[in-house]
Amino acid sequence: MKGRFHLAGTAALIAAAMMPTTQAGAAGKLTLYCSPQIEWCQLVIEEFQKATGIEVAMTRKSSGETFAQVKAEKDNPKGDVWWGGTGDPHLQAAEEGLTLEYKSPMLEKLHPWARQQAEQAKYRTVGVYMGALGFGYDPAFLAKKKLSEPKCWADLTKPEYKGEVQIANPHSSGTSYTTLATLVQIWGEAKAFDYLKALHKNINQYTKSGSAPIKAAAHGETAIGITFLHDVVTQAVEGFPVKAVAPCEGTGFEIGSMSIIKGARNLESAKKFYDWALGPESQKLMTKAKAYQVPSNASVTPPPQAPKMEQIKLINYDFAKYGSSEERKRLLAKWDAEVKDLPR
Ligand code: F6P
Repeated sequence: MKGRFHLAGTAALIAAAMMPTTQAGAAGKLTLYCSPQIEWCQLVIEEFQKATGIEVAMTRKSSGETFAQVKAEKDNPKGDVWWGGTGDPHLQAAEEGLTLEYKSPMLEKLHPWARQQAEQAKYRTVGVYMGALGFGYDPAFLAKKKLSEPKCWADLTKPEYKGEVQIANPHSSGTSYTTLATLVQIWGEAKAFDYLKALHKNINQYTKSGSAPIKAAAHGETAIGITFLHDVVTQAVEGFPVKAVAPCEGTGFEIGSMSIIKGARNLESAKKFYDWALGPESQKLMTKAKAYQVPSNASVTPPPQAPKMEQIKLINYDFAKYGSSEERKRLLAKWDAEVKDLPR
């Protein structure tokens, strides 16, 4: 009796120990590097896991930081897919051979700008969303400090805003690199760097993440935050009285992108995620996550709160040039040499 019991117990234990592994292993695993807002990253992995049974391990880091990580892990890749974040570092990763060519069957369902991003990178990346750059502030907070409401990029260097403006560091943040490249495209390099030096005097902090400055403005920790306009909308929807401004000179934009990392250990899962992330079910999640970029799947309508691209004076952002390895490295090194350490 005792012996039979023991055997049955052992068999049950073995079965129990094997089950979770077998079930998780059957559907597969995925390591996701995520660069948009954390709330959206979390919702996306939850829904992808539900839809496919694939177990996802996710980390959220800013665009430039993720690029640096993918590059550092080049000889021993740990991530499978890099989802979201500004397109420039994805293009740089494509050029440096850090990401894999993949032609998703979903490509034909995308807006031309998202397909163009893929063509440009020889299918080593693709557009997932689009968003325009600008800044935001709480008008009542400015009024209390007797500060005028800025309308243009040029306004942000006024002495009245000394210590009142926040932007991210262009190395870690795709938002901030997009700002740097935008200003160079609007004014030419010499004038843009003069501007950045003047702006530096008004900066209270260079944050790691691109959306941090508008969160700080919403909480009264800075007067003005330079950021993507959709990140201002998120704060407004959260109930903070912030206003989004598309600068009068015109502004740049991002094509938030996605790439499969070369050497991905879970390639099949990576492709499944890639196709799913370009589909309508996944892109419709943006509203639930309070993410207000323009979705790349042409069948998905942006929510009514999203900034209206057709009402914004967008520059003809040169992704080929500013997403190239040489140009991104050069501009960042120039910012380090000429701006970063200036006294304030
Ligand atoms: O918060 C969302 C978002 O603005 C995305 O649209 C963009 O790709 C990403 O953040 C950029 O973040 P970061 O500037 O931190 O790289």
